[in-house]
Amino acid sequence: MPKIHLLNSRLANQIAAGEVVERPASVVKEALENSLDAGATRIEIDVEAGGAKLIRIRDNGSGIAAEDMSLALARHATSKIASLEDLERVSSLGFRGEALASIGSVSRLTLTSNAHEQGSEGSSAACEGREMEVQLRPAPHPRGTTLEVRDLFFNTPARRKFLRTEKTEFDHLEEVVKRLALSRFDVAFTLRHNGKVIHNLNAASVQAESRRRVAAICGPAFIEQTIAIDAEAPPYRLSGWVGLPTFSRSQGDLQYFFVNGRVIRDRLIAHAVKQAYRDVLYHGRHPAFVLYLELDPAQVDVNVHPTKHEVRFRDGRAVHNFIFSALHRALAEVRPGHAAAQQDVAATHLLATGDGMAIDTATGEIRSQSTLAWGAPAADRGRSLQVLGRPQAQGPRRGTRRRSRRSRRPGH
Ligand SMILES: Nc1ncnc2c1ncn2[C@@H]1O[C@H](COP(=O)(O)OP(=O)(O)O)[C@@H](O)[C@H]1O
Ligand SMILES: [Mg+2]
Repeated sequence: MPKIHLLNSRLANQIAAGEVVERPASVVKEALENSLDAGATRIEIDVEAGGAKLIRIRDNGSGIAAEDMSLALARHATSKIASLEDLERVSSLGFRGEALASIGSVSRLTLTSNAHEQGSEGSSAACEGREMEVQLRPAPHPRGTTLEVRDLFFNTPARRKFLRTEKTEFDHLEEVVKRLALSRFDVAFTLRHNGKVIHNLNAASVQAESRRRVAAICGPAFIEQTIAIDAEAPPYRLSGWVGLPTFSRSQGDLQYFFVNGRVIRDRLIAHAVKQAYRDVLYHGRHPAFVLYLELDPAQVDVNVHPTKHEVRFRDGRAVHNFIFSALHRALAEVRPGHAAAQQDVAATHLLATGDGMAIDTATGEIRSQSTLAWGAPAADRGRSLQVLGRPQAQGPRRGTRRRSRRSRRPGH
């Protein structure tokens, strides 16, 4: 009796799903990437119970032809690459051809799509985690695709147990939507949870609209306390926004870095950014940033991680140096004489309530006067002033005076 046998397709897919589908947020990531790869300009995301019960993603992209529908759900089936050369220059977000097959093996999945202009055409494919045999039937659908994923991990109870509370799962899922929304300003996104609209982001084409989107995602205080970056040293270009040193955070939770439109986490890049901020940030504080690095796709390998969160640069040292010097220069430029501008930014947010307290109009937070000036926690105030080359003792006094003057003005 031979001991070696081929895995059946469901089990093979479930093993792959272990890498690709960790939680509802992973499903949303894969589905949104497919919608973006299909050229969608509007994507609607409906979620129930943190995504564990239902995830429905509807796009107006190119759609899938009826004859391709069952293949779309098969493993190692993709329309995006056909050769090793394609892989080496891949510019689509997906290319491994395993997401839908993996998701389908651990959920009740329905894919409905139409590649034609006529809404009466279209077809739908359903699979229920079983042997992956796909049920195909005609289904009217406007041009584009709807992916519906119900009861994630219903047939893999061990993995279902790993799901956290509805809120935690939704937070992860929302984070995925935020990242992709920051990567594609030209696409409109709507996110609803249990019927409630959480984000409604219109497509943004001009700078003011982009800033509005960043404010909606990162908070209005961030966009008002940032430096716009746009640096180029061929073959690299870096653009986006970095927080002023006064807008530092206690955690690295407002850090978005995109390489050729793909959000990534990378030690080398994290190090370059950290170094650039080294002289202007307190130990233990984290910078906030939304940055976009663009380079020739051949200079970066995106196929080093199943969910493609990590990349490998051909010339890591050059990338590091470029990012470090672009940011270091930008941060140095705002140092001298920028204190006044920062005060103004901070002051516009602070509304004194007359009882020694004030409301931060950007965050809605109520704080005592003693923690107010400069839009930074009291402990950081002196430090940011030092950074700006001012005597430490002057800072709070100046800040307070300025604020109380403002608060006497009508309407403040
Ligand atoms: N929203 C969509 N719009 C158009 N085509 C889609 C969509 N989702 C999936 N597809 C098609 O199904 C194929 C398989 O998708 P997937 O399993 O995610 O693999 P990959 O994205 O790696 O190619 C894709 O290559 C694409 O042709
Ligand atoms: Mg995909």
